[in-house]
Amino acid sequence: VETGVVIVGAGPAGLMLSHLLSRAGIDTVVVEKRSREEIANTHRAGILEAGTVAMLTGSGVDGRVLSHGHEGTVLRFEGESRRIDFQELVGESVWLYPQNEVFTDLAAARERDGGVVHWEVTDTAVQDLTTEHPGVRCTTADGRQLEIRARLLVGADGSRGVCRRQIPADVRTDNFTEYPFAWFGILCEAPPSAPELIYAHSRHGFALISQRSDTVQRMYFQCDPATDVADWDDERIWDELQRRVDGTGRAHPAAGADLRQDGPAVPLVRVRAAAPREHVPGGGRRAHRAAHRGQGPEPRVLRRAGARPGDRRLLRHGDDSGLAGYSAKALERIWKAQNFSYWVTNLMHVAPDENPFAVKRRRGEFRRSPARSTARPTSPSPTPGGRTGPDR
Ligand code: DHB
Repeated sequence: VETGVVIVGAGPAGLMLSHLLSRAGIDTVVVEKRSREEIANTHRAGILEAGTVAMLTGSGVDGRVLSHGHEGTVLRFEGESRRIDFQELVGESVWLYPQNEVFTDLAAARERDGGVVHWEVTDTAVQDLTTEHPGVRCTTADGRQLEIRARLLVGADGSRGVCRRQIPADVRTDNFTEYPFAWFGILCEAPPSAPELIYAHSRHGFALISQRSDTVQRMYFQCDPATDVADWDDERIWDELQRRVDGTGRAHPAAGADLRQDGPAVPLVRVRAAAPREHVPGGGRRAHRAAHRGQGPEPRVLRRAGARPGDRRLLRHGDDSGLAGYSAKALERIWKAQNFSYWVTNLMHVAPDENPFAVKRRRGEFRRSPARSTARPTSPSPTPGGRTGPDR
């Protein structure tokens, strides 16, 4: 099979790119090792930033996401609540719309538009990366051998996929960090505990109160990476969430609500950002490279760089000058996001070597963050030093 761009991985990044390229008149073939159902039913994180939502709705993907906007979020530090007002701060919102729903909408859009996606392929091998016609060979779900040749190959198969390894070790930097804790995630059948997300820090650790619908809620709490879900019955889970969101009134659903667990605690807080994002074999102007996936708007950067509508320099003429700034641009955005997530993660979690100094310093940081106090002082009124409670 000949195509313009072959994309490995049909997660949100791969499908988004395929969708955008198709709108620009460029053919793609996408291969994916999982089934469409498996991806659609795997629970993943739920928050989208404004740029991602604009990219979805501005390109004709179903607008279901638009009914899930949140204008702010609550940070709670040892029972003290503060709200970040995104609208006031930057004039944008976030959307609480899980990644598997984004996937569902994108897969439907690709199907509607006649996009070619091969689900459940096996034995995927990337071929001839350093020639004019890189390709992918794999076995389809019905046992056929498939060989796809393209002008450009995009690896959207994640940090554990086959494509990352194709960037030669001597030009690749793996920027990897691992936090010393994991998240325990639950889904429960209950009405929402709070109108907005609550990120809570307590001396027992971090907890996140999130939502999915009027009847299903999503919550997480920080745990040891070696945690075994079998040790956690419903009562213990509710007690743990309760003591971490401490001082919330009704910040958790009634104990005894029907709990659905979604599998073992996963060491979620793993970060990997490979650089460079593209590989030009031999440093020449040849028209093929593996471009590595990132989250969020990376497909847009890539489309602009290599395959603008009406300016298909790369695919038509082998002119890859448009790709020159791709890595730098993508990495700039990625490191901004990494920095934010590093900041908020360290602010709100409890480290294994936590000490009173570290906690008090972080409380100071919390109070200096853009989060504004939501608590109205009732009684007693603040002391002259500005303290409202005992300094433990
Ligand atoms: C969810 C996950 C997150 O990591 C986050 O920051 C906010 C919400 C969620 O799954 O609901």
